[in-house]
Amino acid sequence: MVFQATTSAPVNIACIKYWGKRDTSLILPTNSSLSVTLDQDHLRSTTTSRADPSFTSDRLWLNGKEEIVKDGGRMSTCIKEMKRLRKELVEDKDPKAPQLSTFSVHIASYNNFPTAAGLASSASGFAALVSSLAALYALPCPPTTLSLIARQGSGSACRSLLGGFVAWEQGSQSNGLDSHAVQVAPESHWPTMHALICVVNDAKKGTSSTSGMQRTVETSPLLQHRIKHVVPQRMIDISKAILEKDFDSFARITMADSNQFHAVALDTSPPIFYMNDVSRAIIAVVEEYNRVAVETTGKVKAAYTFDAGPNAVIYTEEANVKEIIEMIVKFFPQQEKFKDPFGLFGAQGLGEGKLP
Ligand code: ADP
Ligand code: DP6
Ligand code: CO
Repeated sequence: MVFQATTSAPVNIACIKYWGKRDTSLILPTNSSLSVTLDQDHLRSTTTSRADPSFTSDRLWLNGKEEIVKDGGRMSTCIKEMKRLRKELVEDKDPKAPQLSTFSVHIASYNNFPTAAGLASSASGFAALVSSLAALYALPCPPTTLSLIARQGSGSACRSLLGGFVAWEQGSQSNGLDSHAVQVAPESHWPTMHALICVVNDAKKGTSSTSGMQRTVETSPLLQHRIKHVVPQRMIDISKAILEKDFDSFARITMADSNQFHAVALDTSPPIFYMNDVSRAIIAVVEEYNRVAVETTGKVKAAYTFDAGPNAVIYTEEANVKEIIEMIVKFFPQQEKFKDPFGLFGAQGLGEGKLP
């Protein structure tokens, strides 16, 4: 008998950023956050978990290379929690069920996009880990329960277990049971919303999100202002903008929050620089595009946001996708022919063979 399951989980890109923990072992945040989960067809982690009585320890391979599963580490916590649920919800109820919670697991995961480069690989990675174990163990758990476990792997991962527009409510209990993901609206609520991923640099970042945010909590006075006086109102305002499909408000809040997150990184001692000159040039191009849009229509048409890395995500509505890609490719000529998954540009593609 082979006990194995494979599942995928997509990345999510935050509009209101999570940056700071009040409890580093349970991964409880200093503020609520809100993101958009991208669809499975693009940036995703695919994870296979296998349980077998012959395995002597829990092991994990990421993109083909073994990562040590440290006792008491995040990976080990997630695996342990999932085994506990298997025992409680399946084996204790049905003594004939295979005792998978007593077997070690081997896990293999692949990301189809750059790992640890500020494109939320820890989010899709831990969401895929938890959902593949949930499938392996046949757990009858709603996504909210799984989000409590994924959160203990990487905070942002709790939001990738739900689709569409997702909030991570910070919660107030010290056991973390009220710190989980909640869907604000499904993807079908706003199907014209698109996210353009602009890869500026696919290298692993110098400061991981985990160590960066801890340094911010310890040293940044601006973070205290942000969590007390800025984020709570933004969570209310952006949720309203999403429910009303008010792109102008959604975009203005998203850009302001990305900028404040990077200001907080800069306010950290020693300062953390996640964006580079190309990132800042993308901000300038989108700001200029929006200035013209506001002059003619009174509303902005695009929102940039940057996670903990130099890569940009641009949110826009479907009608502007082609125009924005053309603009980005014009200002930032591509080394390779622009891949055209939606057939927007015909046989010629865009930006072939030009170097910046
Ligand atoms: P990112 O901006 O990509 O989320 P982080 O610094 O937050 O970068 O996290 C990167 C770490 O997340 C990796 O070093 C690895 O430990 C973990 N990770 C990434 N992808 C996966 C995956 N598919 N499965 C398990 N863990 C993963
Ligand atoms: C800038 O979730 O990667 O992407 O909980 O320490 O694993 P850990 O950090 P992580 O931090 C994400 C930070 C962010 C903002 C966000 O996704 O909300
Ligand atoms: Co991450």
